[in-house]
Amino acid sequence: MTEKANQGLEKPLLRVLKGECVQPRPIWLMRQAGRYLPEYRALRKQAGSFLDLCYTPELAAEITLQPIRRYGFDAAILFSDILVLPDALGQTVRFEEGIGPKLDPVTADNLAAVCRPEAVLGGGNEKLEAVYEAIRLIRRELPAETALIGFCGAPWTVATYMVEGGGSKTFERIRRWAAADSAGFAQLIDILVDTTVAHLLGQIAAGVEAVQLFESHAGVLDTVGFARWVLEPARRIVTALHAAAPDVPVIGFPRGGGVQLPRYASETGIDALGLDQSIPLDWIDGLLPKNFPVQGNLDPIYLLDGSAEIARHVEAICEALPERPHIFNLGHGVIKETDPETIQTLVECLRSL
Ligand code: CP3
Repeated sequence: MTEKANQGLEKPLLRVLKGECVQPRPIWLMRQAGRYLPEYRALRKQAGSFLDLCYTPELAAEITLQPIRRYGFDAAILFSDILVLPDALGQTVRFEEGIGPKLDPVTADNLAAVCRPEAVLGGGNEKLEAVYEAIRLIRRELPAETALIGFCGAPWTVATYMVEGGGSKTFERIRRWAAADSAGFAQLIDILVDTTVAHLLGQIAAGVEAVQLFESHAGVLDTVGFARWVLEPARRIVTALHAAAPDVPVIGFPRGGGVQLPRYASETGIDALGLDQSIPLDWIDGLLPKNFPVQGNLDPIYLLDGSAEIARHVEAICEALPERPHIFNLGHGVIKETDPETIQTLVECLRSL
């Protein structure tokens, strides 16, 4: 097949990730599967717990496909969670209704007992195998033009949940550990680097076509911590993925990374940069190399109260990136009170530009 014919067959989202400007711009949304959808809430009720949903391939596949059927997004993102990795490593992870994740905290003293990399690195982990089975089921059902994105949390972000025992506002425990005993804390980060690579390669072998690294708490570190715990682990992960799976693009999403974003893009080797809603698009556009793809960055708050202003916000984002390969997305996940109709409006707005 000629290169041109081949390109014509490639999925729009994957073309953008390879540096092409595609119109209309492909769109998917972080947390596009989830509690704002009545069909998700119905299935969620059937499963015992959130993790049961993640580890039941038929249910995880069905939830992944729900927003694709409704909106025809250009990508499906695997329905799973960044905390399946600590769960697979042997830490106790629970999701409490209305509260969020709760974990029995990892400390310098219990690290070796609580967190067992061999449970993941050997292959054959029952929980992660269920995730890979979901991917195979999704690929069978997905429309030909829709890409499938896999993901992991980046090591720093996953470690925040492991060490704090859940969400946090101050991140004091983890920042103290990393500052006072960086060699000890590096052991946890090293385990997460290796097992993240293994889990992403497992997802790729099962059929995901791009992967995203969620660094949701990039914004709480100083420049020294950012270099050591965000940049360096991402660089190691991307290097290993590119060596084993050179055709699979990696999207890095260092939420809250602010002025560090140009460094993140150039030093980690990622193929595309996810932008949160705080990033001025003209600023980042002027600093990234020509043809370096970006993704983002509509503030999800605009989807909450009606749809009157959406067209204006969508246009402003597209106009700020006139010649940049761009995947339309939010700056963070869909908020659970969002009306599903508003998302339909968003997709129609973008596609009619
Ligand atoms: O984006 C998608 O649609 C794919 C699935 C997905 C989920 N979580 C499903 C989920 C993805 C990509 C994630 C990533 C994730 N998980 C992140 C990184 C992105 C971000 O939001 O910053 C983080 C930090 C987590 C950890 C996590 N999982 C938290 C803090 C919570 C509780 C908060 C909340 O929104 O409930 C979860 C639970 C979770 N993960 C839900 C879903 C659909 C809600 C579970 C429920 O049904 O009760």
